[in-house]
Amino acid sequence: MIADFNARDGSQESGASSGNGNSTSASAVPKAIEVEHIVKKYGDFTAVDDVSFDVKEGEIFGLLGPNGAGKSTLIRMMTTLIPITAGTARVAGHDVQKDPNAARRAIGVIPQALTSDIDLTVEENLNIYANWSS
Ligand SMILES: Nc1ncnc2c1ncn2[C@@H]1O[C@H](COP(=O)(O)OP(=O)(O)O)[C@@H](O)[C@H]1O
Ligand SMILES: [Mg+2]
Repeated sequence: MIADFNARDGSQESGASSGNGNSTSASAVPKAIEVEHIVKKYGDFTAVDDVSFDVKEGEIFGLLGPNGAGKSTLIRMMTTLIPITAGTARVAGHDVQKDPNAARRAIGVIPQALTSDIDLTVEENLNIYANWSS
């Protein structure tokens, strides 16, 4: 499993409010992704074991781990593709289990490679990506 995944920001900036309602502290930045104690079990096998982390809007977040760590399983749960065994995930504030369609609408995909299928027309390629967010 992913070695140290508790990336939740415990260092909320403390007491720096200027009092003008224009706080720019890190804790004021909305959360793009909130994952809390998420678990995926396949039978007796635990593929993702109690993972929690936040990603703020505008933040670039890399999900790293060795093969079999559970990265793809975690992403599949966060993107509504497979059921979550326990815990929660919110994307742009939308709970992926309670409101999967809203969560999907907030998700975009950029492939690393094979960005288009040469056996398909341009329109067919575009429709594949369009359908992912519908
Ligand atoms: N559908 C499945 N059924 C049973 N085990 C699975 C399934 N999908 C993934 N696993 C197992 O869960 C673990 C995590 O897999 P995966 O999420 O693909 O890891 P990663 O993407 O980090 O390489 C692996 O041990 C894998 O064999
Ligand atoms: Mg993978």
